[in-house]
Amino acid sequence: MFNFDAKTSVLFGFNTIKELGPEAIKLGAKNVLVVTDKGIVQAGLLEKVKESLNASGINVAVFDGIEPNPSDKSLVVGGQAARDHQADMIIGLGGGSPMDAAKGIAIMTNNDGTVESYVEVLDAWPNTPLPVICIPTTAGTGAEVSRAAMVNLTEKKIKKALFGATIQPQLAVVDPSLTLGLPSHLTAQTGVDALCHAFEAYIAKFSNPISDALAVEAIKLAAANLREAVKHGDNLEARSNMLLASTIAVISASSAGLGVVHSLAQTLGGFYNLPHGLSIAVCFPYGIGYNLVAEPEKCAHVSRMLGTDTSNMSDEEAANSVVAALRTLNADLEIHDDLRSLGFQEADLPVLAKYSVEDGNTPTNPRVFDVDAATTLYQSMLN
Ligand SMILES: [Fe+2]
Repeated sequence: MFNFDAKTSVLFGFNTIKELGPEAIKLGAKNVLVVTDKGIVQAGLLEKVKESLNASGINVAVFDGIEPNPSDKSLVVGGQAARDHQADMIIGLGGGSPMDAAKGIAIMTNNDGTVESYVEVLDAWPNTPLPVICIPTTAGTGAEVSRAAMVNLTEKKIKKALFGATIQPQLAVVDPSLTLGLPSHLTAQTGVDALCHAFEAYIAKFSNPISDALAVEAIKLAAANLREAVKHGDNLEARSNMLLASTIAVISASSAGLGVVHSLAQTLGGFYNLPHGLSIAVCFPYGIGYNLVAEPEKCAHVSRMLGTDTSNMSDEEAANSVVAALRTLNADLEIHDDLRSLGFQEADLPVLAKYSVEDGNTPTNPRVFDVDAATTLYQSMLN
């Protein structure tokens, strides 16, 4: 038995941003708060959103103070901004951070508790959050279709998840034209995150025939388009296919779950305040290397999809070859993965290992993951 649920309506295609206003009206919006960050404003993307909303007669307020790893404090401030505007909808515009923050702000607009009191428990908040529309500007997080929102608990230096069906976006407006200006290093990091969602979902504990079909499609799209999107950011087809891969991967992962690559990476990201995609790229070969024994056939299949010729390999060699394929991908994309220069040090290992095992993605990993395993993996990253 398995359950597959995809609640978010997806509007995909070039210039679909123009449909945002009419779609928001259909969902009952009159006063919306757009949650974004300063980079998105500078890139001129907020203007496109405002244009469409204003043309439909919707009153727009903007909260553009979201950090790269959104903090609990920002969600509280954003919730107040939404109440001041009498908002009836939150729109998240940007990469994973503003979209996750939009979901958190939707909760905090209608609830008085602390952010920390709501993490890691399904729909933990007493009052229903405001409805959310998400508009991704990177091809990576898939936050536009997920029921989770990461938040950095600033004082504890740890990232935790808010999750539940009530914060899953009602609508995702997925417009590849919004990703055209993304710099190549961010295209690389976020693209690897998209591939990782698909790969982890493919081998996760609750993977099922529907999530597998989606994961395989997302892996094929990323394998065929990620290098090209990084190299030639103006290639419309590559951009479009990467954004499609990103969205599909998280529809798969919402059903199947993720695994220890995310457990390890989110711990590093929260502790050292690293971009999510970068910490994923660093941990990707190690976490998958750990999981090979649990799903060797699927790992070999991914390796072939990434371009490895496994015809002369034993089954074990074919499975193992996916680790090399992931390392080659990082190198081709010029992702800087020297952990020491990113702040990682031995003295932090015990707390990092503990946090990663406690991460919300650990329970859906296909192989048991404990503090000893986490310590060994982090040590091998340092060496
Ligand atoms: Fe991710």
